[in-house]
Amino acid sequence: MPDIKFRVKRQDPGDNNNPEAHWEEYTVHYEGENLTVLEGLFYIQEKFDGSLSFRFCCRASVCGSCAMYINGAYRLACQTNVKHLDTDLITVAPMPHLPLVKDLVVNMDEFFAKYEYVMPWLVRHSPDPEKEIIQSPKERKKIDMPVDCILCGSCYSSCPSVWSLGASLGSKSEEYYLGPAALLKAYRFEVDSRDEGGKERIARWNNERGIYRCHTIMNCVEACPKELNPTEGIQWLKRAAVRRKLFRKAK
Ligand code: SF4
Ligand code: FES
Repeated sequence: MPDIKFRVKRQDPGDNNNPEAHWEEYTVHYEGENLTVLEGLFYIQEKFDGSLSFRFCCRASVCGSCAMYINGAYRLACQTNVKHLDTDLITVAPMPHLPLVKDLVVNMDEFFAKYEYVMPWLVRHSPDPEKEIIQSPKERKKIDMPVDCILCGSCYSSCPSVWSLGASLGSKSEEYYLGPAALLKAYRFEVDSRDEGGKERIARWNNERGIYRCHTIMNCVEACPKELNPTEGIQWLKRAAVRRKLFRKAK
């Protein structure tokens, strides 16, 4: 039965006796060839410390809840096989630059508020069609990339433009950045042939809190565990904003 060492960052800001961040080590035993980082965390929770906190849901890389900082990179714990990390030591920390709730759980409220702000739904003004709206393969291809976003928040956590502006959407300050995931979602609906919300949505992303805060650093592309390219979407939005200004088109 192979062993592997896990070093996990622990912190409970609500614990008055020990509120500081610290690392704890655990030896995880497993059978067979495969162990995901998420399974390792279950083992630790079951055998060593039931208070270890982390998020998960689908265990199949589709819900985005288990994004963490594993061996120096953003990864989904359920998707990461320890064998593929090629090391005897697995370090697990919460996604950096986000407010910590406890251990590996970060507060995603601001992330989801910004996501909601860009109107991440299909807007229709035409009368409801009698049948489903057909997309051609060419039209569907345009949303192939952004539609795979699972809202894990890795790109948002990795973005220096997000770090440099502390204020949130709900604050009075104008100093915030929507971040790569929200802008990728805006792009996803802008390029959707069925959407008619261009006029309403553009005011939300075409400003200094939106696309113009992206300095093409591309950390988001490196961080994304689904290998998506938020920067590509943001660059498309920048070009679309210019086109609309020049040609006064809604979309
Ligand atoms: S673009 Fe990638 S990193 Fe960002 S939220 Fe979506 S899946 Fe996660
Ligand atoms: S548990 Fe859903 S993505 Fe990992």
